[in-house]
Amino acid sequence: LKALLIAGGLGTRLRPLTFTRPKHLLPIANRPHIDHVIDLFHRHGVAEVVLLTSYLADAFADVISRAEARGISVEVTHEAEPLGTAGAIKNAESLVGGDAFFAVNADVLTTADLTALLAFHRARSAHATILLTPVEDPSAYGVVPTDDDGRVQRFIEKPEPGTAPTNLINAGVYVLEPSVLEAIPAGEVVSIEREVFPDLAAAGHLYAHPTDGYWMDIGTPEKYVQANVDALAGRFPTEAVTEPGPDAVVAASQAVIDEGAQVSSACIGSGCSIDNGAVVQESVLLDDVVVASGARVVRSALGQGVRVGPGAEVRNRAVGDGEHIEA
Ligand code: GDD
Ligand code: MG
Repeated sequence: LKALLIAGGLGTRLRPLTFTRPKHLLPIANRPHIDHVIDLFHRHGVAEVVLLTSYLADAFADVISRAEARGISVEVTHEAEPLGTAGAIKNAESLVGGDAFFAVNADVLTTADLTALLAFHRARSAHATILLTPVEDPSAYGVVPTDDDGRVQRFIEKPEPGTAPTNLINAGVYVLEPSVLEAIPAGEVVSIEREVFPDLAAAGHLYAHPTDGYWMDIGTPEKYVQANVDALAGRFPTEAVTEPGPDAVVAASQAVIDEGAQVSSACIGSGCSIDNGAVVQESVLLDDVVVASGARVVRSALGQGVRVGPGAEVRNRAVGDGEHIEA
């Protein structure tokens, strides 16, 4: 089977970090997020992926080389203007072939059992099957009530807070039959969540299956930082964290952390320097970040080349590349 990685969004909620890179390249445990997505599919036997790109598409070149170096074939489509989630999939129609395929929002981090999802889909002869995950506040997601057999009754994208009929939401991982593409007009902006899924649900052809695995959408600064904290703590297991735990630190070999710095639950990129008396907690530092003496960085994501001056504090923030923060 092939997997289509839907990766062309602007990442507006992660600005300013996404002014200079697609969110899919932001690191989780010092590895680009999308590499973890490719790992998941690879573990479930998928050796062919299609990257559906638009925004900053050239930035994926290294992702492609790394995947190909481990025997995964990568094809790429490009939308000059973003076509929406269904428009992007339609745009890849010629690469899909006659079999069912996976499609995934390439900003989710999950350990979901894709093999079980595919088996569920086939057992019901579904036209499309959606992976579900429980969340506390479903209003930021696609809400998916089903009957006892998993048939989707309705698909409600981002309902008003307090109105969702269930807390099981669209986890952004799908098995789709090629027939689903027939109903999508080519070259137009189409949303799978707002147009395709509601129609399929009304026709009774849409199914959904919950996972109890780890799941996070990294699309906001809070959730992006939390995904890193979860990887460090071992809640999202990855080989990128050799000794997971509540205080685990993953630091690139080219980073310099002073013995007198307090660093815990943090991912530290190459070329960073953290000085004596600095505190870095539950945070992500991209490459070449300087945290000066006595500075504090808490629950934040700092872009490449950020400098946090002596005694300055950064808390609950996403800081763009190259910014200097003084006390
Ligand atoms: N190629 C392409 N073209 N990709 C796109 C486009 C586009 O026009 N628009 C969005 N994407 C990609 C994004 O890069 C992301 O990987 C994915 O599609 C989903 O877009 P988001 O903008 O992250 O959507 P969301 O998080 O608000 O909501 C979606 O994901 C939730 C789960 O995380 C929906 O699918 C919800 O129903 C779902 O619950
Ligand atoms: Mg998202």
